[in-house]
Amino acid sequence: TNTANTSMWHYWSYFAKGVGYTVGISLVAVIIGVLLGAGLALIRIGHTKVWHALATAYVEFIRGTPLMVQVMFIYFGIGMFYDISAVVAGTLAVGLNSAAYVSEVFRSGIESVPVGQKEAARSLGLSTKQTMQSVIFPQAIVTIWPALGNEFISLIKETSIVSIIGVADLIYQLRIVQADTYKGVLPIVVAMVLYFILTFGLSRVLQHFEHKFNHAN
Ligand code: ARG
Repeated sequence: TNTANTSMWHYWSYFAKGVGYTVGISLVAVIIGVLLGAGLALIRIGHTKVWHALATAYVEFIRGTPLMVQVMFIYFGIGMFYDISAVVAGTLAVGLNSAAYVSEVFRSGIESVPVGQKEAARSLGLSTKQTMQSVIFPQAIVTIWPALGNEFISLIKETSIVSIIGVADLIYQLRIVQADTYKGVLPIVVAMVLYFILTFGLSRVLQHFEHKFNHAN
């Protein structure tokens, strides 16, 4: 007789663990993405031709190859020299991927500020750095902020790919529950709903801040 408990409630700790991994990976990856992406954007705005070309090549290459291959490359590539855990490799890969997208967010945000703003600031005697800090960036952040929020939401969904290297995220857990319960669809539905709660919840939180932000100045 089949004594397996096929109730999804019975497996709540599996799903909870999966959510933990999914949220944790997304959070760390978005931090890596914002720091590295801002750096890349700065390099692409100013700096020498060589650095500009390198940063652009990075962004284009990352955006032009699947995240799935990047995850595999980081895990098995670094794994050739160093015993890296799947969760670290997965988080790093998603973070490095995110940086390319974030770099575009910063670049387009800065480019959205009319060139007259820069010209006016410069002709008033502000240095390039001062112009950037006190004229361009405060205006650019208004478009950058919501786009960064969207990137965070995307990452929650995109991290699902790390399950292919065996990270115990939500997708990985749903497969365990499928195998345990012989139920094909129900665990998928549970995972889907959990992803939706995460993205919708985050979207609401971000909207709240965006609202406050837009009324701050
Ligand atoms: N799924 C697509 C890919 O495999 C898009 C990745 C999006 N990444 C991001 N950081 N927004 O390339």
